[in-house]
Amino acid sequence: MTTPPGSTGPNGNADRPWLRTDLPVEEHVEALLAEMTLAEKVGQTHQSANIDPIADAELIRGGGIGSSLLASGATAGNERDAGIRVSTIDAVQRIAVEDSRLGIPLLFARDVIHGHRTVFPIPLGLAAAWDEDLVLRTARLAAAEASLDGIAWTFAPMLDISEEPRWGRVAESLGEAPVLAGRLGAAMVRGFQGDDLGEGDSRGAGSISACAKHFVGYGLVAGGRDYETVQVGENTLRNLHLRPFRTAVEAGCATVMAAFTDVDGVPMHAHRRMLREVLKGEWGFDGVVVADWDGIGQLVNQGVASDLRDAAAQAIAAGVDIDMISGAYAAHLAELVESGRVPLDLVDDAARRIIRLKIRQGLFERPYMGATTSEPVLGPEARALAREAAAASFVLLTNNGTLPLSPNLGRVLLTGPFVEEGEALFGTWTLDGRGEDVASPAAAIRERLQDNAIVDDGRFSDRTLHLVRQADVTVALVGEHPSRSGEANSVTDIGLPAGQLEVLRAIAAIGKPLVVVVFTGRPLDLGEVLDLADSVLIAWHPGVEAGPALVETLFGDRAPGGRLPMTFPRSVGHLPTSTHAHPTGRPIAADADGVTGRYLDALVVPRFPFGWGLTYTTFNYGPIRLSSNEMPLNGGSVEVTVDVTNSGTHAGREVVQLYLRDLVADVTRPLLELADWVSLELDPGSTGTATFHVTPAQLSYYDRTMTLRIDPGEAVVTVGPDASSGTSARITVTQ
Ligand code: NOJ
Repeated sequence: MTTPPGSTGPNGNADRPWLRTDLPVEEHVEALLAEMTLAEKVGQTHQSANIDPIADAELIRGGGIGSSLLASGATAGNERDAGIRVSTIDAVQRIAVEDSRLGIPLLFARDVIHGHRTVFPIPLGLAAAWDEDLVLRTARLAAAEASLDGIAWTFAPMLDISEEPRWGRVAESLGEAPVLAGRLGAAMVRGFQGDDLGEGDSRGAGSISACAKHFVGYGLVAGGRDYETVQVGENTLRNLHLRPFRTAVEAGCATVMAAFTDVDGVPMHAHRRMLREVLKGEWGFDGVVVADWDGIGQLVNQGVASDLRDAAAQAIAAGVDIDMISGAYAAHLAELVESGRVPLDLVDDAARRIIRLKIRQGLFERPYMGATTSEPVLGPEARALAREAAAASFVLLTNNGTLPLSPNLGRVLLTGPFVEEGEALFGTWTLDGRGEDVASPAAAIRERLQDNAIVDDGRFSDRTLHLVRQADVTVALVGEHPSRSGEANSVTDIGLPAGQLEVLRAIAAIGKPLVVVVFTGRPLDLGEVLDLADSVLIAWHPGVEAGPALVETLFGDRAPGGRLPMTFPRSVGHLPTSTHAHPTGRPIAADADGVTGRYLDALVVPRFPFGWGLTYTTFNYGPIRLSSNEMPLNGGSVEVTVDVTNSGTHAGREVVQLYLRDLVADVTRPLLELADWVSLELDPGSTGTATFHVTPAQLSYYDRTMTLRIDPGEAVVTVGPDASSGTSARITVTQ
């Protein structure tokens, strides 16, 4: 690692105080800001893709750019690129630090979403583990690997709350519940950023800045069509969609990205109310707001800006600090200030935040990577964590006892399109994973069963039926290729991809045990598959250790412990289906099947509720106990406990979930909302106690005037294994 000439220490830069890294952060920011011309301030707000040391030398030298995104294009999560070259990053940085007037280093950003070289499960899969510590550790390793490649900033976590499986981007999300997404998102932020954003070891392996995205409401795109319009009021934004962002900001998230969509007619890149008033004002966020790819330019397409100049004026006024790619700020911001349309204060605010981020990131101390090596990646510890994460993400939907497979079972057929796959098991947004690193399901089952493993060729055709007849049990690996999920990949049919169900029908007709493993980036309508299969396991897109994690789970070395972070609906016709339902004026009484009906032609209840997941044992819940039936509004709390007994024959993990309902409020409140969870690891026959502390804050909400409040009155507390069952009690919030 090289130190820029004279950039550190109290004496090294007597003549250039803005480079003195011993100054307190805010003093350093102001010292630098005081030196900057308007053009240099605007330069900091400009971000381009894949900056080049030769083609862009003039721009960098002139201070015309502040950051660069390393990405293949507008939907980089769907494409591979040539990878990162540390030497290019350093060459660019050298021009900025040594040849520009002020020597301000550049920030290099890349979408490190669920791992870097070591690929972990997609975020929706990670969320299924309901494990903050696990999420933190995966982000920490990703930060270490990415920072070795010269990356200082990632665009994760994605915190869009969505109940829309047609939308491909749910794969990148942390699920539909604000408490789950918020806490896991905060863990991811802490993992990426570490205790101190500026920390790094001698090789530079350390922390990277996180980015909570997409602010806000993107998960509500109409019809699940990416980039579509969003209709939602501020009350629902506050009580639902803004909450995980608030949690991430409180955890110190360094940056926030604006969403592509408009919300009730106002595109988020021009949404002054949400960005400048709520995020920066009300919440006191002092980090950076970055545009999404060409999000400022797209204000013209959205029909609220007449041209790029107008778009730049609206975006800076709204509070977007960095212009990703559109070039609107670089082209027009200085002139907009000079002509009086944009106050200088707005540009100062943006520049101040960007400089603050660079100082916090330690870029002034350590702008270069120098000679680095990728040798530490994918060592045994990285693989062990990847395997742990993959296995923890698996959700067992149904099981008639076929799983775990007995070691003396005989011959096992592994069939389906994912048998020999590598990269396809990574999922969306894996820019730096390498297919050859993947431990495939085929390799893992061969290693385990030797001659008793029958591995199909992945074509999943009628030839497969011959193999099914030779085997004692068939494990079919079906589901979605990652190219069917992620950005810009929405679907109208959430069943299995074409052809797979037909082959499963033919396999099931042979009458031998059938285990179906589903790789997916979204909740699917598995209807008939559930009847055909003896067991169904959701494996998401599990990452680099997919094969061993799967085989160890199938044979019971590990028990599935994941729980659904999104509701699995009955069909597309049932959407939206989630835990966000509010009481209506005409609740329909339970029908003969004990099910509340709202359709003439189908049950309304989800196929699998939020929080659902089986394991290789069973659990019994005892009655709910409260430390008190009353909870004083100021400073009170009620301890809620439930005993849970492992009533089966295997050790297992139970995720005990706490749901709350406020019975009378100023606005309608959810019938059920996740408030907390605890995990219990229990041996057969043993009993554990799940303990929760319910507080008035957990019942707080924004009222008709957008004021946060807590009402005295009755609330229902439910503790259970998922959102559809549990044991309940009432508490009264008192004045
Ligand atoms: C567009 C996506 O919406 C966003 O999530 C991503 O971070 C940026 N492109 C940068 O690649």
